[in-house]
Amino acid sequence: MPVTTLQWVDGKIRMIDQTLLPTELKYLHIDNLEVLAEAIRNLRVRGAPAIGVAAAFGMVLAGQQAPYSDKKQFLAGLDNAASFLKATRPTAVNLAWAVDRLLKGVRQRENLDIPDLKRWLIDEAMALYGQDRDINRRIGAHGEKLIPQNAQVVTHCNTGALATVDYGTALGVIYSAHANGKKIHVWVDETRPLLQGARLNMWELAQENIDATLICDNMAAMVMRKHKIDLCIVGADRIARNGDTANKIGTYGLAVAARHHGVPFYVAAPISTIDFAIASGVEIPIEERAASEITHGFGRQTAPEGAKVYAPAFDVTPVELISGIITESGIISSPYELQLPKSLKNT
Ligand code: MRU
Repeated sequence: MPVTTLQWVDGKIRMIDQTLLPTELKYLHIDNLEVLAEAIRNLRVRGAPAIGVAAAFGMVLAGQQAPYSDKKQFLAGLDNAASFLKATRPTAVNLAWAVDRLLKGVRQRENLDIPDLKRWLIDEAMALYGQDRDINRRIGAHGEKLIPQNAQVVTHCNTGALATVDYGTALGVIYSAHANGKKIHVWVDETRPLLQGARLNMWELAQENIDATLICDNMAAMVMRKHKIDLCIVGADRIARNGDTANKIGTYGLAVAARHHGVPFYVAAPISTIDFAIASGVEIPIEERAASEITHGFGRQTAPEGAKVYAPAFDVTPVELISGIITESGIISSPYELQLPKSLKNT
């Protein structure tokens, strides 16, 4: 990837404003928690792993913003920042996971001085940043084995370098196959209503010179019927213990169509996306977005004034529609209750 999605530079988070892509490549330089929260809520930075790392740097900002000399106040400030960040987007577990990891680490080091705690926060956020890079390459290396020569692949939502620190999960698998000399053609769902597929996947795939065709979400079933699709591959925002997977709205429908047409359906995600605290997808909180994202998408009114709208940002694909989950420790398949905990031990 010739551009960097997200970076810690001179005490600030430098990130691409993804709402402006594909027509404008602009970087934000964020040194304030409120501004970061706005960027996460409004999808200037988005994608489960990317918002996890952004929120980790948010905890660093919280530590730096804190004018406190009193340890108790400093720790209370971090607690507040953690709750504030976790409320920005509820579905992707990576965000809460990263914030909790930093909070827990600070609590375990409560005896250190405030300047040392601030330094530890930066080191830990940088460690998460580096790990995400490494994890995505490993997901790519495992997943690319599923991709045949001359593959036809369907994907949904952006899961590439823009959705992570670098490289990506589901798109990372495609990059890895491409790098290994496999010829590959990607059918890209536009991903209504915010068009992460059209705006972001098409942009990334063009940069990597990978052959891609953009389709509206409602064309995927027809594409599966007419073209010999080898597999569907998507990312995840939260995976329950039983393998039920929350991902961008439209993923469930894609999985249903894939099952009907006998197309294998894979999920690619880091182990940090697995929420071992919940048994099944019923428990996954689903973010609902503003109605205006549907009625006034990208500034143009496309529904009558006052139209009643339902706007879930994610759906849950039941595990029985999933052929396997590609993680950094390998490709996991049913029974997930048994296999997913093993993946934790192998990291
Ligand atoms: O609302 P978004 O754009 O943050 O949703 C992103 C997705 O649903 C991705 O598929 C998921 O986060 C995996 S990204 C590697």
